[in-house]
Formats: sequence, structure tokens, C-alpha cells
Amino acid sequence: MKISDRISRVEYAIRDIMLHAKEYQKTGKEIMYLNIGDPVAFDFKTPLHIKNALVDALASDNDYYTDSEGWNELRQSIVGKEKDKKGLDLTPEDVLVTNGVSEGLDMVMGSIVEDGDQVLLPGPYYPPYSSYAKFYGGRITEFEIHEDGTPNLDDIKNKISSRSKAICIINPNNPTGEVFSRKSLKSLIDIAAENNLYIICDEIYDEIVFDNEFSGIGSVSGDAPVILLNGFSKTYLMTGLRCGYVCMNNNSRQLDPLRQNIFKLARVRIASNFPVQIAANAALHGSQEHLPIMVQKLKKRRDLVYKRLNEIDDVECTKPKGAFYMFPKIELSNRWKNDLEFVIDLLNSTGVLTVHGSGFGNSGTGHFRIVYLPQEEILEKSMDKIQAFIKKRSA
Ligand SMILES: Cc1ncc(COP(=O)(O)O)c(C=O)c1O
Repeated sequence: MKISDRISRVEYAIRDIMLHAKEYQKTGKEIMYLNIGDPVAFDFKTPLHIKNALVDALASDNDYYTDSEGWNELRQSIVGKEKDKKGLDLTPEDVLVTNGVSEGLDMVMGSIVEDGDQVLLPGPYYPPYSSYAKFYGGRITEFEIHEDGTPNLDDIKNKISSRSKAICIINPNNPTGEVFSRKSLKSLIDIAAENNLYIICDEIYDEIVFDNEFSGIGSVSGDAPVILLNGFSKTYLMTGLRCGYVCMNNNSRQLDPLRQNIFKLARVRIASNFPVQIAANAALHGSQEHLPIMVQKLKKRRDLVYKRLNEIDDVECTKPKGAFYMFPKIELSNRWKNDLEFVIDLLNSTGVLTVHGSGFGNSGTGHFRIVYLPQEEILEKSMDKIQAFIKKRSA
């Protein structure tokens, strides 16, 4: 039977590579998972007060359908975080609670992208941005990020066309861990405002920043049409619970049509998980103690992997400023046809599972992505294996 042409445009390299891992698993050998950004699968566990709130919600029979736009108490608490702490002008009515940032992104792209529209993405980018844009008939264009981590503003301006619809920002970025400065964010807002473009900004890693202060898009949004995506998966270690949200800048009149219409989509899928929203509310109000502990642990792991990778011949990487990914460049020479072949060869020869850089867009070509969430011993062992493997292939 025929399937839609739309579905063939969807890709998700991070999970696609698992098909190769499943084959490898059949050999019975050990796999070192450096491929999926799920802290809860490693030694970062959901704080107890969040889990207790979820259990209590169920025990109190709070597991019925709630409002499509989200539970009002949670929407208010989200305003507390995104407005009071981070500066984006919001009321609870500007907030839509979703089953993860992923669903929010789907709804936003579905609400603004039409056939032939162009969506600008940072190169490299988190793959669902391209998949959802293309699913809704859009095309994507990558804009360049300079070596120093700032966006190439001329490149963006040159690539804007009459069909451009939105500029996406992922800050901190997945897969590079790059963090944009306030100045860069302001420049991007100005370009969007001049060209009548939406700004879609994903701050899911906003609390996982190592060396510098983090500026949210809210601090420079003014009256620009800024749509902020954020959620609980990473910061509150709630990956499997699925809770995120979409915030629409209250100051922007250009966002009024979206504000009036996106909730229709929300009604079609009834509501997001109510007990989880209660747990998310407890996350925002309860102890934040796990955060500095997590950031400290990750910083040590980042430094270890950064040092070890740069000691390997033919591998080069920049130091990530946030999130938990590293995106080294590998000199392929004539040993591997492309980065996918490198990643598969690495897996089959060593059991170290990473993701090919080209899965994150054209700018990712010649790179591979490492998740540095595992404990130090595993990271050390994986680095030993990568080093020995590359040395062997160079001999
Ligand atoms: C930048 C970015 N946005 C969104 C997500 C997914 O978020 P959620 O679990 O809330 O759907 C991820 C997950 O890796 C991510 O890296």
C-alpha cells in the first residue's frame, strides 16, 4: 500500500544508527553507548521529590484529561521561570504545555511552515528541526557558525529569501555544545525582525552551561516574534516522562495569529500527561540541588573527553560550553568514504557507539558526535578504544 511522500523526508540519525548497534549486539560483545543524550540512562537520576510528586498525583487520582493548553498551575510556574528568571515577557496564556519539546516543535512547525517555505538552521543542528520542517513541506538551509562559535551574520543575510519563514536557534546547541552570547542572540533577533521571520529558540539545556553565564533569548526578545521551546527532560532529568512547553513572546503582536491557532492543534491531541505535569510543577518549585552537582560531574567528564580526543592523531575538537555532547572532526583520508562509514567501522571494531556527523546536517560532514554522560571509567575505556582503532587504521 502507498505511504505518504511526506514520511520519506523524515530522518533521525541518532536513533537510525541503533539499527547497526542491534546487529552488533547479536555478536554478544559489549557496546559502549556514547550515542544517546539521555542522562537518566546513566548515573543522573530523577530527583526524589519529582518522582514522589508523580506517585502522589496518581495516588490522588489526578490522572484524568486536563486542559489541552496545559495545567494552569504549571503554566504559571513556567512563567515564573521563563519571565521572572530569564526575561521573556509572558502570561500563562502564552504558554502551551506539550509531551516533550519534540511535540512542541512538531506543533510549531506544523503551525507556521507551508509548502516551499525556507527554515534557517544553525549548521550543524539537532535533526528533528529539519525532519519536522520538511515533513510540513518546508526546505531547510544551514547557516554557518564561525570557529569561535558566533553565527555568521552575513551568511544568514545572504541566505534569506522571499520564502524564508523562521530562524532556529538551539542554545546550548546539540551536537556542538556551543552557547551563543547575548550579543549574537540580539543580532539574530534584529535580522529576524528586519525580515519578518519567526525566531524559534530551543533552550532545553539552559541550566547545563559550564564556564560562562547563560543568556536566554528572553533577555533580548523585545517585541520580536520569539517562540521559545523548553522542557524538563534534561534539566530535571525527566526524559522518559515527556514534558515540555512552547512560550510565545507576549510583546509580539506578530505572534497573535499563532497564539490564537496553535491551541487548536493542542485540542486535537486532547492534553499532555497530567500526572507528569504535576511532577514538572514540583520540579520547578522544589529543590534545585541536583543542578550544580550534575553540572560539576559533567564538566569533569567534558574535560576528560576533550583532553583525550585532542591527544588522538587525526581527531580535533573544540571545547563545548554547555549540554553534554562533543563533536570532533575526524580526518577521513582514504580510510573511510565518509563519517557514517567511520562510525560503523568504529562500532564493529570496538563496540564504541557514536553518531555520524552528517546526520546533523551538511555542516556535520566529517565529524562524529560523542555523548559524554557515561562515568569516567567508561569514557576512559572508550577513548582508549577510539585511539587504538584510529592508530590501527593509520598503520
Ligand atoms: C536540542 C534538543 N531539543 C529537544 C530535545 C528533545 O526534547 P524532549 O525530550 O523534551 O522531547 C533534545 C533531545 O536530545 C534536544 O537535544
